[in-house]
Amino acid sequence: MALTVTPLSPACGAEIGGVDLSKPLDKATTDAIYRAWLDHIVLVFRGQKMEESDQRRFAATFGTVGERARPVERRAEGADYDGRFMLITNVRDEKGQPIGSLPDGEMWFHQDMVFVEVPNSATMLNAIEIPSTGGNTRFASLYRAWEMTPERIKRRIGGRRALQTFNYHMVGRFDPNAPGAQQPNLRQAWQPAVLTHPVSGRKALMVNRLMTVRIEGLPEDESRAILDELYDIIEDPAGIYEHVWAVDDLLIWDNLASAHARTDFPPTERRLLRRLMIQGQKLAV
Ligand code: SIN
Repeated sequence: MALTVTPLSPACGAEIGGVDLSKPLDKATTDAIYRAWLDHIVLVFRGQKMEESDQRRFAATFGTVGERARPVERRAEGADYDGRFMLITNVRDEKGQPIGSLPDGEMWFHQDMVFVEVPNSATMLNAIEIPSTGGNTRFASLYRAWEMTPERIKRRIGGRRALQTFNYHMVGRFDPNAPGAQQPNLRQAWQPAVLTHPVSGRKALMVNRLMTVRIEGLPEDESRAILDELYDIIEDPAGIYEHVWAVDDLLIWDNLASAHARTDFPPTERRLLRRLMIQGQKLAV
């Protein structure tokens, strides 16, 4: 079977055909897939019945599969579950306890793990159970967002850092003054506001509506106004690929070249995806 690469939108996303990810792939195939991932930012593989071991093996062709940053005692999956996998799910056990993370509803645009010093380079999701409607994942190209950014903003944010924050419960923007905001599980890190991608060498915006608090060194009002303008650029529908999930879909996306969001879905229906992440590197401003 020959590998096929079919673009899914002008900004990002390509469907890869002609591979069975439940079996080891040869180097020429994994090299071609890696190249397509760099070019298209989000890769979609349909109809992949995979065990956890298959998912780990395929993920390892993109780099070192990372351990989760969340402390083991705060993981709903339990201490015995493989610490590299996160279950993204609203499913609860017989006692009503969540069996995974990021349970219900909409999530704003964000990049995974940018609130730790070394964010992951890629995220992989494998769909196990999917609701009949909603729960779509939307992807925005941050290369395109940089290209669309007006010069007056490029001049103000170039060479600066942005503060990225998450408290493991957020689905909307962090408010540092809200009651309980400064709780012990709050994570935050400074990252470049504009990234030179460590592999492609291309420039990408690196701010997002969910996690970015402010741009370093700018007055608060200016920082907020610039961020709001940038979010509108990132979330422009013309730059989005929206993935409507089916069971056995596998997606892997470039976490540094894209932001992603999730649409709402009925809380009465089950949604379960298995996530792995590929280790990244400290990012230079
Ligand atoms: C995530 O942000 O990693 C979750 C995306 C999703 O649930 O679609």
